[in-house]
Amino acid sequence: MDTTYDKDNAQHPAMMKPRIRSATLSDLTSLVEIDRMCFTEDLAFDEEEFRRHLSDSNAVSLVADISGTAAGFSIATLEHSGREATLVTLDVLPPYRRSGVGSALVEAARHWLLGRGAGRLFLQVDTSNEAALAFYLGLGFRKVRILSGYYGRGKDAYLMRKNL
Ligand SMILES: CC(C)(COP(=O)(O)OP(=O)(O)OC[C@H]1O[C@@H](n2cnc3c(N)ncnc32)[C@H](O)[C@@H]1OP(=O)(O)O)[C@@H](O)C(=O)NCCC(=O)NCCS
Repeated sequence: MDTTYDKDNAQHPAMMKPRIRSATLSDLTSLVEIDRMCFTEDLAFDEEEFRRHLSDSNAVSLVADISGTAAGFSIATLEHSGREATLVTLDVLPPYRRSGVGSALVEAARHWLLGRGAGRLFLQVDTSNEAALAFYLGLGFRKVRILSGYYGRGKDAYLMRKNL
């Protein structure tokens, strides 16, 4: 499949554009490492979860490649109805943030999901994750409701939704 999507990120100090490509099992180690750098241990996925998503034909797993380095990745899955999808995770390594990488990953996932007939994209985000909230609101996601204890006792999430 063609998942190439170039975002003009002239603001980035290194002036480099991410190349968005499909993730494969050969990216497994990178995905685990990036996830550990982006999330605390209790929230990071384990290798088996990544392996399952990478092998799922109803999931789109994308890597943002900058000069041969994985700067971030996203995973989204189609739900059984086929009309709805979930953004399972989105990670951008700290040095590459605020340069359009996250937006490029979401846009490429949106493109893939639209092509398979999905109409709405859902996600869960920690209510205290201000950066991600600002990011998702800016992309047109709206809060649907609070999911109490979603990440464990006292750790709530917002369920967010965007029409694709
Ligand atoms: C959230 C995340 C994916 C954003 O990735 P990114 O590559 O920095 O996003 P972009 O550069 O495409 O940002 C697009 C816009 O989102 C908003 N935004 C992104 N990060 C923000 C922050 N820290 N504070 C405020 N607004 C922010 C800004 O409006 C930004 O545009 P601007 O830089 O021109 O102001 C990244 O911070 C990340 O990986 N965080 C850790 C993991 C995580 O929380 N993932 C989401 C969990 S559900």
